[in-house]
Amino acid sequence: MADPLAAIETPAYVYDLDEARRAHALLRAAVPEPSWILYSLKANPHPAIVRTLRALGCGAEISSRGELAAALEAGVPAERVLLTGPGRRDRELAEALEAGVRWFSVDSPLGLAQVDLAARALGAPARCLLRINGPTPAPGQGLTMTGVASQFGADAEWIEREPASFRSAAGARLAGLHLYMGTNLAGEDALAGQFQMAIATARRLTGVLSFEPELLSLGGGFPAPFAREGSLPELPNLARRLADMLDGAFPGWRRGSPRVAFESGRFLTGTSGSLLTRVLDVKCSHGQPVVVLESGINHLGGMSGLRRLPPLVPDLHAPVRDGEPLANAIVAGPLCTPLDTWARSATVAPVRPGDVVRVPNVGAYGLTASLLAFLGHPPPREVVVDGGRVVEVSQLTLNRQTLSASPGGD
Ligand SMILES: Cc1ncc(COP(=O)(O)O)c(C=O)c1O
Repeated sequence: MADPLAAIETPAYVYDLDEARRAHALLRAAVPEPSWILYSLKANPHPAIVRTLRALGCGAEISSRGELAAALEAGVPAERVLLTGPGRRDRELAEALEAGVRWFSVDSPLGLAQVDLAARALGAPARCLLRINGPTPAPGQGLTMTGVASQFGADAEWIEREPASFRSAAGARLAGLHLYMGTNLAGEDALAGQFQMAIATARRLTGVLSFEPELLSLGGGFPAPFAREGSLPELPNLARRLADMLDGAFPGWRRGSPRVAFESGRFLTGTSGSLLTRVLDVKCSHGQPVVVLESGINHLGGMSGLRRLPPLVPDLHAPVRDGEPLANAIVAGPLCTPLDTWARSATVAPVRPGDVVRVPNVGAYGLTASLLAFLGHPPPREVVVDGGRVVEVSQLTLNRQTLSASPGGD
């Protein structure tokens, strides 16, 4: 059968919607029923991906105006959108409320007051989840977001000391808790340990704040391989373990009181994407092989440098040919900066200029988590494959829009 990707111009991200559906089925089986799965658009806001996950019943966890627009355009019902993230602008709150969003994660008393003000101004009462920063990080995380000094959430001790600062306001009802603790946990036991901590903290704090939560977002941290060969982990007992924990702490959860939500980006989309990119040059420098690709940190791995992702050690799938692998190779991109290296000591197949290599498992935190505008190369194409067929090819554009210019300026 002809390769449906043979005619695709590189560099190109390829997203396989069947794989996103398969990942969703695995996650659905790994969390207890009834619960909401919220897709975290930060992993990949491509419309076809968001539409596919929406069609499977996912809501959306968003943290910007761009993600709000992407979720709504993909048909996610506004009542299934949770707006999260520290440091809000009044305008983005107003826009979300006007669009019908009612669930807001807040990180401080000021965050609560800000939602209250925006909601009263619009006559659209909001429901707030107070995001919690627990006393200790959950073990086994790829990236710790709470349990340490952080912009995320309010410290549990702060809430215990001053519960009155976190109470409902007229326009912003305290309606639940948000306990996203970190990302890319090591497997089922690490996930269960994290959820155990989250549920115990939620139980304690609902007592301190004297309220019955309507929605408990327990976060996620569901792992996926990144830029390396590998598959999604088996989580055979997680749903049962979670149900037991919830039965103990929130006996009404099976009747939806509280409703329970989980958030996931990388598990849902990581394995559905790969990057096809071409070898531009192969040479030797100071005794080390150097492979220069048409993609660098502008297309993949921009956030590795910012420690948002583990350092890139990409697997490059290259055409099979005789010859020794290139050992201790530098894998570089085309940017005019020495920072543009994916790896400084990789073992790479014996590639030649013109070869197309494939980086697997980059459907999450790939294109939009990279330094796309840096140095002005065109963005890669994005190719959507469904049922083994290419169904859409698109390309992001980065166009400057002049907002004001002084008369007579050149
Ligand atoms: C609040 C929140 N929810 C969900 C996610 C998604 O994480 P992941 O893609 O690892 O599932 C993140 C990631 O940073 C987050 O901050």
